[in-house]
Amino acid sequence: MASNYQAPRGTFDILPADARGRRRIEATAAAIFARAGYEPIATPAFEDTELFERGVGRSTDIVRKEMFSFEDKGGRSITLRPEGTAPICRAYLEHGMHKLAQPVKLSYSGPFFRHERPQAGRFRQFHQLGAEAIGTDSPLADAEAIMLLADLLAELGVPGVELRLGSLGSPGARSAYLEELKAYLRAHEAELSKDVRERIEINPLRAFDADDEGTRLAMAGAPTLLEHLDGEDAEHFAEVRALLEAAGIAYEIDPTLVRGLDYYTRTIFSFVCAELGAQSEIGGGGRYDGLIEQLGGPPTPAVGWAAGIERIMLALGEAVEAEPRDAFLAVADPSQRRRALALAGELRHAGLSAEVDLAGRSLKGQLKQADRIGAARVLILEADGSAQLRDMGSGEQRPVEPGDLIEAIGGERR
Ligand code: HAM
Repeated sequence: MASNYQAPRGTFDILPADARGRRRIEATAAAIFARAGYEPIATPAFEDTELFERGVGRSTDIVRKEMFSFEDKGGRSITLRPEGTAPICRAYLEHGMHKLAQPVKLSYSGPFFRHERPQAGRFRQFHQLGAEAIGTDSPLADAEAIMLLADLLAELGVPGVELRLGSLGSPGARSAYLEELKAYLRAHEAELSKDVRERIEINPLRAFDADDEGTRLAMAGAPTLLEHLDGEDAEHFAEVRALLEAAGIAYEIDPTLVRGLDYYTRTIFSFVCAELGAQSEIGGGGRYDGLIEQLGGPPTPAVGWAAGIERIMLALGEAVEAEPRDAFLAVADPSQRRRALALAGELRHAGLSAEVDLAGRSLKGQLKQADRIGAARVLILEADGSAQLRDMGSGEQRPVEPGDLIEAIGGERR
């Protein structure tokens, strides 16, 4: 029975079978973050539009084409958050976290919104998990960030993951390179897509990220930033690499790696999974040493990443089965319903899972339902106050004293 309505294009309902898988991913991430001291933070689902224009960058696809922006009733321009780093930096400044011991290590999980053309692994409302270490320029923080995401994907068992690593250098050192790249792009203008041509002046690095075949061919011969890293940037990058090697994390240097947000400086990285097809990036991030200053704060170096929960789910490709219930409390007579619910409460307080019949089924129907939900045992409450415990595996049934119930169910479970 379909209603007249459907979830909006690019969005989806998270049904229980899906929710279980997500819960496992979020719980695994939460444990990894906690063990490394990345405290949870949550920011609003919408922010002032200008935060993203300034933070993410006016020349990016995200700001140019993909933001869900609207005017609120007070005439302010509001945007559903397309990403989490600019909002977290806003919160860091707003709450004076720059006065705390640095770095401030934060983690998050939640919905994000981008008006992109929907396809496999690309949605208009999607979910990210992420971590940020704000207030340190140490290469240790870059390596630690990468390690957290590598650990998460490994612990979840995501197959075929590869780590690509690059460096954008610092903005000063980058400008000479950008001039060289622009000259190269102008010389190859005829081979480039319209989109790339239009952005030669404002965002030439994006040419490395184009899907268009002509642009890709032209970019194969382009000068790369990695060849132009200067002293301190090169040293920083070498140290990140050495730290990853010491931690046993395999990576591939990708001189053409760029990311879709303007705030990156120095280290950038991307975890890809070939099995995902076109949208192969599971997660990525990098250093953003200028972002907090850009938002009006003091110079504050930082590094972090985000991973797409839907992409992790697609890569895992498996449904997580529901946990079987410890017990189902069936009534042989309707007079026992109150007792059944009270006993279910006691079992639940003892940490066991228990269900009662909420649909007025016959005893036969209740046993069928118990079987359906995979209950290990059924307690049948008889009209005379006695009770039978039935093992659903063996079909054996024996009388139990109500006082022994928790022990009978919990005790046998252990
Ligand atoms: P991002 O690369 O734009 O980075 O997004 C991170 C991840 O979110 C992607 O790798 C992908 O898995 C997922 N993702 C992005 N867009 C979509 C979409 N439309 N549908 C499904 N999944 C999507 C950031 O957002 C940065 N804030 C990461 C960061 C944190 N950098 C430093 N700190």
